[in-house]
Amino acid sequence: MPFSIDRVVPWGRARDEYVRMFTLAQSDLGRRILGCGDGPASFNAEATQSGAKVLSLDPIYAFSAREIEARVQQTRAQILGGVRDNMDDFVWDKARSLIASPAELSARRMQAMRDFLDDLPCGARQGRYLGAALPDLPLRDGSFDLALSSHFLFLYSEQLGLQFHHAAIGEMLRVAREVRIFPLLQIGGAPSSLVEPIINELRSQGYEVARLKVLYEFQKGGDEMLRIARQDGT
Ligand SMILES: C[S@@+](CC[C@H](N)C(=O)[O-])C[C@H]1O[C@@H](n2cnc3c(N)ncnc32)[C@H](O)[C@@H]1O
Repeated sequence: MPFSIDRVVPWGRARDEYVRMFTLAQSDLGRRILGCGDGPASFNAEATQSGAKVLSLDPIYAFSAREIEARVQQTRAQILGGVRDNMDDFVWDKARSLIASPAELSARRMQAMRDFLDDLPCGARQGRYLGAALPDLPLRDGSFDLALSSHFLFLYSEQLGLQFHHAAIGEMLRVAREVRIFPLLQIGGAPSSLVEPIINELRSQGYEVARLKVLYEFQKGGDEMLRIARQDGT
């Protein structure tokens, strides 16, 4: 089925949120980073300004800035409605989530989108935004140090299924030495049932896999990331 922009939920986070979700140290920001499913996040724009080397990939980058913005605006109405109906499912504490209210959530996501859209023409020319989709990436083996997935893998566990997750994470590990995935919850806030089968399979393949607590929690209980690396560290 051809990729349709109506089927995705582009909703972008900022650099400070990426830093917390993935516990990115200054040394991590000096590595070659691949953001998988970065959508309208401003991580690439902001990290590039401070000297980082980031490539973001997402199927929505095949669409025009105008189409992406329109889809984010539609998403905003849907998401804010859902959030207001389920306030207790989220952490409204700036120390944990950086967000104290739905109004602030909206303002943050819109600012991230604007920063992303402002950066897109220059970033596309520089090859920092790639219209591509997991699980097939047009990238060479081992061309990145760190591949990140924020709010894509595990979040859409029910829609994407186990086989997709195996293939997508296998592909991320083909192109990067290390993979980090956040959150380990699915939409609605339940723990993803795919996390344990994925951990067992990766360990049986010889990868070092750890569930690590992070200093970020917006979906209640969503304060863990999965870190996967080759055991020999190569
Ligand atoms: C909820 S957004 C998260 C955006 C960003 N990572 C963040 O956390 O701010 C999920 C993104 O996954 C992207 N996506 C959907 N299918 C994908 C695929 N097969 N491979 C990579 N990204 C995909 C969507 O286009 C969307 O931008």
